[in-house]
Amino acid sequence: MQKNIQTVKKIAILTSGGDAPGMNAAIRAIVIAAQHYHLEVVGFYAGYNGLIDDVSTPLGLTDVSHIIHRGGTILKSARCPAMETTLGIEQATSTLLKAQVDALIVIGGDGSFAGLMALQKQWSGQVIGIPGTIDNDIDGTDFTIGFSTAINTAIEAIDKIRDTAEAFERIFIIELMGRHSGHIAFNVGIACAAEQIISFENFVSNRNTNHHEADKLKTLAKEIKQAQANRHASYIIVLAENLWRGGASALAQQLQTIAEIDCTPCILGHIQRGGSPVAKDRILATKMGVAAVQAIISGQSNIMIAEQSNNIVHVALSTAIMHQQGVSESLVQAQDNILALTAQHLS
Ligand code: F6P
Repeated sequence: MQKNIQTVKKIAILTSGGDAPGMNAAIRAIVIAAQHYHLEVVGFYAGYNGLIDDVSTPLGLTDVSHIIHRGGTILKSARCPAMETTLGIEQATSTLLKAQVDALIVIGGDGSFAGLMALQKQWSGQVIGIPGTIDNDIDGTDFTIGFSTAINTAIEAIDKIRDTAEAFERIFIIELMGRHSGHIAFNVGIACAAEQIISFENFVSNRNTNHHEADKLKTLAKEIKQAQANRHASYIIVLAENLWRGGASALAQQLQTIAEIDCTPCILGHIQRGGSPVAKDRILATKMGVAAVQAIISGQSNIMIAEQSNNIVHVALSTAIMHQQGVSESLVQAQDNILALTAQHLS
């Protein structure tokens, strides 16, 4: 249903799910654009909890000055299981009605968008999603806010680990975030010239897990031994989190047991979530924040602001959460090609 610019007076923002570098840049852009259209802005704290518990703050230009470079989110974030309950949705709706909010912008991932869609069934205001997650797993947008910073952070960390690995001719297994997707693992693995990337896209672990892992372990051990025999050097295995049972530590132990290979496991962890956003995330967040306000002004609802081939587009929220965005086949292929070429060169 199209709304008239005059009918929208107040918008609300919240950040939800895992924080991502660039969320502050998006909040800033929303507030500046809202000011341009004479809209009042209120920020709810700690994701949907702020709506359920009615904890908010008015947001003006001074509140968002000099936050573009800050990681995390000034509105704080949370995962909110209460939004999966009827009571939680009723409480959130009642807060929005009480605060006379006309439109709600949620910056987060697919779980956050599912909350937005549930809310939309009860509440007649406009709902807009902005994809903010380091995982880059939202369908319909080329990139999510935070992904570029996260991969740059991980690359910087692995480059440092490589120095030690080279100095000691050592093998490292580095576990990277990404929830159930391999965008971080694949992009970082390729950029760090990892000798192995073990991720969802090249290792299916959902059937015959024991058998499959045992096979992979044998191949891995053989390839490591071969590489070590050809050239005494460092060896980096990038492992996507939630893929190998027991994670990097278990894999290291298994390689020791079956082939007496010494590996150092390293879980990079939340370092990937924090830090000052890189230029790409600041710019993406700024474009998306402004576009979200413009979408509200033009009467849009139930959409995610997305970027496709450098253009800002609108994607139905239902489409955005239907599938997880996969790692492109060409990226998986690129790693295979590099490995094959390297192997030829060394043999
Ligand atoms: O979705 C972002 C993310 O960092 C994932 O990559 C990771 O699986 C998860 O959040 C970790 O969540 P938490 O910080 O709640 O442990």
